[in-house]
Amino acid sequence: MQLVKEITLLQKIEEAVKAIRDSSALEVKIGIILGTGLGKLADEMEVEVEIPYETIPYFAVSTVESHAGKLVIGKLAGQPIVAMAGRFHYYEGYSMQEITFPVRVMRFLGIERLIISNAAGSVNPAYQIGDLVFIRDHINLHPDNPLRGVNEDRLGPRFPDMLSTYDNDWNERALGYCKEEGIPAHSGVYAVLAGPNLETPAEYRYLHIIGADLVGMSTVPEVLVAKHMDLPVFVVSVVSNRCYPIEQLSETSIEDVIDAVQLAEPHLTRVVKYMIS
Ligand code: HPA
Repeated sequence: MQLVKEITLLQKIEEAVKAIRDSSALEVKIGIILGTGLGKLADEMEVEVEIPYETIPYFAVSTVESHAGKLVIGKLAGQPIVAMAGRFHYYEGYSMQEITFPVRVMRFLGIERLIISNAAGSVNPAYQIGDLVFIRDHINLHPDNPLRGVNEDRLGPRFPDMLSTYDNDWNERALGYCKEEGIPAHSGVYAVLAGPNLETPAEYRYLHIIGADLVGMSTVPEVLVAKHMDLPVFVVSVVSNRCYPIEQLSETSIEDVIDAVQLAEPHLTRVVKYMIS
């Protein structure tokens, strides 16, 4: 009987890194994950190379229309970066490991910071549609976890501490910039659910009561894996719909979400460029 040797996570990462390095030798320092309706930041880049996900070993392929599916390597505000135009969500049917694999790969490409953008519903009545929110903490209501399973000690610890997961320094500086520039912005707590449905009124009320300011369907798996690898993260949410108080709820479609965040996209672009420059 022939024994089939299983390919380890580390080997998969190394294979993906090698494939990317064959296209670009740029020493990227920052990774950016672009959220729903927020892909335009990549258009601001001085692009060196675009690599479709389907050509990178072990990368999943995005199934959502509002997301492209390529890695963009180049410069933004003079800094060498790698951007994910298109991300993976749990609701698409991927495993947590598949969703977060690109974060592992970007870390091994050399990034020292990860920037994530997303569209999120607001359960904080003070937030308006289009406001930016710098995430200072999260509440994980996902049924699954990317760190579940045998731990690879060379990637990170079995039991990552979550006390200082989000970079408060960056949040403070981003808030200061927004204040100077007149960009409406806050710092807040992001709750994640699996989706793909939005929440019921009772769920929105529950999220408000437990201390969330925002709710969304992404970001936290990537943050967990970043934290596992000791990679600082800076997360910017754009408020796409207001969900609290529930008397003011109205039906929300994906088009509403995209329209709302696209209006705020120039603000997001300015803040991200400022922060990385
Ligand atoms: N709920 C969950 N995810 C979301 C929402 C919401 O209201 N808006 C944008 N992403």
